[in-house]
Amino acid sequence: MKVLVIGGGGREHALARKFKQSPNVSQVYCAPGNPGMKADGIDQVPLAVDQLDELLDWAQARGIDWTFVGPEQPLFLGIVDRFRAAGQKIFGPTQAAARLESSKKFAKEILLKHGIPTADYRSFEDLAAAQAYVRTASFPLVVKADGPAAGKGVVIAQNLDEAEAALADMLADKRYGAQSQVVVEEYLTGPEFSFFSLVHDGQVLHLPTAQDHKRAYDQDRGPNTGGMGAYAPVSFVDEALYQEVVTTIVEPTLRAMEAAGHPYSGVLYTGLMLTAAGPKVIEFNTRFGDPETQILMPLLADDFADTISQLLDGQPAQVTLKEDRPSLGVVLAAEGYPNPYVKGMDLSPLVQRCPADISLVYAGVGELSGHLTAQGGRILMAVAQGDDLAQAAQRVYAYLDQEAIPQTFYRHDIGSQAITRPKEEKIT
Ligand code: AMP
Ligand code: GLY
Repeated sequence: MKVLVIGGGGREHALARKFKQSPNVSQVYCAPGNPGMKADGIDQVPLAVDQLDELLDWAQARGIDWTFVGPEQPLFLGIVDRFRAAGQKIFGPTQAAARLESSKKFAKEILLKHGIPTADYRSFEDLAAAQAYVRTASFPLVVKADGPAAGKGVVIAQNLDEAEAALADMLADKRYGAQSQVVVEEYLTGPEFSFFSLVHDGQVLHLPTAQDHKRAYDQDRGPNTGGMGAYAPVSFVDEALYQEVVTTIVEPTLRAMEAAGHPYSGVLYTGLMLTAAGPKVIEFNTRFGDPETQILMPLLADDFADTISQLLDGQPAQVTLKEDRPSLGVVLAAEGYPNPYVKGMDLSPLVQRCPADISLVYAGVGELSGHLTAQGGRILMAVAQGDDLAQAAQRVYAYLDQEAIPQTFYRHDIGSQAITRPKEEKIT
């Protein structure tokens, strides 16, 4: 099989590397990919994720068996509709189904109509109506821009001033696009986790749970980022809670999408919060998470490409775990990220001393005279598995802490809240 992965970050590197492990896969291409993928024998295709016509032409000309879409942007542009219309197999939701991520209002309506647990909400197009509503609301309150705001359009307003400022930003200044609407929702509290399901033509397969760390600095301080590290599985999600998510949230959502005339296909990423009243949906994404994918892929058996292939062909498929062990990964970021950041640092000292128990997944990297250099905000991720989470973390940090790459940083506490410390010896 020849497989094309759309995207060029760490998520796509992890996916392409995994697909390449199947004995049935002869070649994996990644568009645009990144130079860090070369060592795995993954071929870069010099096309951007929004060049839909060119990507389709390329896939047809090369005889690609199926395509897997990494990021949301091509989904929102309708890459799946386009490929399917041309008879090319592709794993992902249609443009209409991708509204579960691209429109918070659409997602909220689906949830509410079918009684699927989520925060209470109201949606507004009109600034005055939204202002009148927040003046009577209690705080904190969550204000979300409706549209593909790439995670940046969420404001937790602690008081009326902050809520009004957020509304003005989104509805008057149209910071998140011309047809902005806002969703104003109830503030929920509890630990968050991510749940990934693979869906196609009536089959649904679920993966282990994962937890992302979105703030830039230790102890969840600093600005929100794309994600600074992750681990799996999440210890507070036991079998009963996992099943509760499947039966009260994921399955009803898929039935609701079918009833709405948009049967879901692809990866459904449910972002959840475990509240005192049980798990509730915070958001849906219509693709894999980055950096969650980088830590999940090592846990899956080598035949993951066959799983996708079987799903696309309507054959019985299953997800097999290779390791029933925890996986943890820490992102190395460039100084300045998530704001403008420095570039060009030589990564070879880190690459050269990478031990066998660490896998490096590349994201924002370039190449200069045969060396990998830093070119993006999130540069790479160091990932390890262990007998327990503490061992996985110890392996990653033993490696990263050894010798710093100038002008880079990483969080030192990925997974720390979930790592159970050895019990104190009992004094008898
Ligand atoms: P979203 O883009 O919807 O995932 O929101 C980004 C982050 O904002 C989430 O990961 C949560 O930490 C937080 N958040 C979103 N909605 C709520 C809510 N209703 N209550 C509390 N926190 C929220
Ligand atoms: N890990 C968060 C995201 O991929 O949206």
